[in-house]
Amino acid sequence: MDIVLATRNKKKAEELQRILSGAGVTVLTLNDFPDCPEVVEDKDTFEGNAIKKASEVALYTGRAAVADDSGLEVYALGNAPGVMSARYAGEDADDDKNIEKLLSKMKGLEQAERGARFVCCIAFARPDHEIKTFFGFVEGGIGTERRGTGGFGYDPVFFSSGSGLSFAEISSAEKDAVSHRKKALELFADYLKKL
Ligand code: IMP
Repeated sequence: MDIVLATRNKKKAEELQRILSGAGVTVLTLNDFPDCPEVVEDKDTFEGNAIKKASEVALYTGRAAVADDSGLEVYALGNAPGVMSARYAGEDADDDKNIEKLLSKMKGLEQAERGARFVCCIAFARPDHEIKTFFGFVEGGIGTERRGTGGFGYDPVFFSSGSGLSFAEISSAEKDAVSHRKKALELFADYLKKL
């Protein structure tokens, strides 16, 4: 089966390709469909955005498509930044500004009130309109200051449960082993192998 990865993010495409290579599928990317329109991520759930991206690309290409959406949920902030994770500090936000806003919103909160999780939803859409979703989570908490220089996004302030290190202080292999994205991808790869 051909599967189109509904992302123009090179790192995501490589990660998906690596994991799916053992699942007996031929992986195409949006580079194979340069005129495929950009999908607007305007839903209020990770699942809604992932399904929208995958199904629009499946419709355009006539092939099965897979898309993901991910972000950070902080319980004390009513699960914000959630689907707004990339744009938390505004449309021109970057990782640094997003972290700054998060730390200032959480100022004064005790450690017990700093619980959070990363969420990833992967949607798989077939041209016959059948849709499946797969979720991965990693539980942890938000520190009071940045630690480490690795990773991206909120990694410098995210500490996974039971570890004294932020996601920016561990290697990418160590992060991959526990990450929300990896967990969702593995569920998807298992599903594909059974098809
Ligand atoms: P998207 O899945 O590319 O839409 O990611 C949305 C945003 O969520 C990213 O820009 C990051 O701010 C945040 N995010 C998602 N996954 C991670 C992660 O593994 N580490 C740090 N931040 C993440």
